[in-house]
Amino acid sequence: QSVLRFLASLPKAELHLHIEGTLEPELMFELAQRNHALDSLPCKTLQEMKAAYNFQDLQSFLNLYYAGCAVLRTDQDFYDLTMAYLRRAKADNVVHTEIFFDPQTHTQRGVPLKCVIEGIHRAQEEGQRTLGITSCLILSFLRDLGPEAAMQTLNEAEPFLGHITGVGLDSCELGFPPGVFQEVFQKAKTLGLKRVAHAGEEGPAQYIWEALQKLDVQRIDHGVKCLEDRKLIESLEASEMPLTVCPLSNLELKVYSGELEKRMSELLSTDLCITINSDDPAYFGGYLNQNYLWLIQNLGLDSQRVVDLHANSFRASFLSQDAKTQHC
Ligand code: HPA
Ligand code: ZN
Repeated sequence: QSVLRFLASLPKAELHLHIEGTLEPELMFELAQRNHALDSLPCKTLQEMKAAYNFQDLQSFLNLYYAGCAVLRTDQDFYDLTMAYLRRAKADNVVHTEIFFDPQTHTQRGVPLKCVIEGIHRAQEEGQRTLGITSCLILSFLRDLGPEAAMQTLNEAEPFLGHITGVGLDSCELGFPPGVFQEVFQKAKTLGLKRVAHAGEEGPAQYIWEALQKLDVQRIDHGVKCLEDRKLIESLEASEMPLTVCPLSNLELKVYSGELEKRMSELLSTDLCITINSDDPAYFGGYLNQNYLWLIQNLGLDSQRVVDLHANSFRASFLSQDAKTQHC
């Protein structure tokens, strides 16, 4: 109880959050009804849907996550989704959040990119005005669709770059190394966009090297497989490269299966710049504070360590230097 009060008292930043992964089953069914899209869902009832949230690995989660996206059709849907997340984030005392979205998941289904971006953006503005939460948006490429589709997506997004802070790389990792996206990340850089990439979640440490060397990223998303490579850890420490770690996600997707606690302890005993995040909280059973709570309860983190981790999140954010100093 006092732990929860302590967590609630800390104003926090979140750096690894997929907006599609905040779609709670209740809202999913509400939007399905509103859009006459119940047939597009893999489950007919809320209870069935919730029962299906039981994953073996990343792919089994992605299958359900993409299926759930089928109910998102209008800019109002994206607004409602984002507002619901921001209200929930407020309850966890999140004051700054950097939100991923997967444009290809929606444009592939015929939803215009403009609807997606403008719906989310309108909620971001409303969230800043009424909840006091600052946020930015990171356009994430689906790595399994390949580099040409990513480049096409970046080109389509050019009219909306005023609403976008950076690009990311997500979806099925094994078999899709980061290096093949070098050209599209290079283009993103010339457009003035920040770069981050999921690497070393299920994929090997080599994928983290590639993201660093070929994509010129400012953060590694997940990155927990760096534990396989001592030299990589040293390099990440020396460059103060942030990792956006998501404990409940790793737990639910069976990354490091039986030994997650041990591996997380190892990670936290290094000098790496670790940040704590919720990834897809509607699917993994907890928003940001629950991710901190899991570490406290399972690894015995003390409050000073929690304060350090939360400061890392602001340090690793894309906030201005002034804003960072205010928060740390
Ligand atoms: N990994 C890869 N792709 C994703 C994830 C993730 O954790 N969440 C949403 N898309
Ligand atoms: Zn993720």
